[in-house]
Amino acid sequence: MNEKIADIDLSPVYQLIDKHKGQRWALIPLLQEVQKQLGYIPPQAIEPIAEGLGLFPSEVQGVISFYTQLYTTPRGRNVVRVCRGTACHVRGGKTILKLVKRYLDIEEGETTPDLEYTLETVACIGVCALAPNMVINNDTYGQLNPKKVTRILSSRAGGVRG
Ligand code: FES
Repeated sequence: MNEKIADIDLSPVYQLIDKHKGQRWALIPLLQEVQKQLGYIPPQAIEPIAEGLGLFPSEVQGVISFYTQLYTTPRGRNVVRVCRGTACHVRGGKTILKLVKRYLDIEEGETTPDLEYTLETVACIGVCALAPNMVINNDTYGQLNPKKVTRILSSRAGGVRG
């Protein structure tokens, strides 16, 4: 067995399965709870969840793929979302994204190896007047420019790491 897989403690998953044995309708809340407890849904949890609830693994996988808020890979403690909406795009959003990628050394959809950051883009975060924008967890940063982005990221890294 892959050592990494063996290392993951799936006991919270089995407890949740026991709680919802045979309850096919409980799939989404169960997946949400697994994600809440483990930070993501480990792919090796899919089969036991399917079996416990009386579903096919492909049905569980289908639900996970459908809901963009469910993840099968670990996510960073800080989720950086750079806006790629029109207002942000015309005011330099592309440059901001490039800069964040370079700073974190990851591409869109990736997580840093230390699990500190995940980088995503969003269609619009609803504060177009302040474009270009990005959000880190629940904090929104507007009127970005390269200097400001570097300052924000370095201060957050400092705050989180140390
Ligand atoms: S387009 Fe970026 S906040 Fe609306």
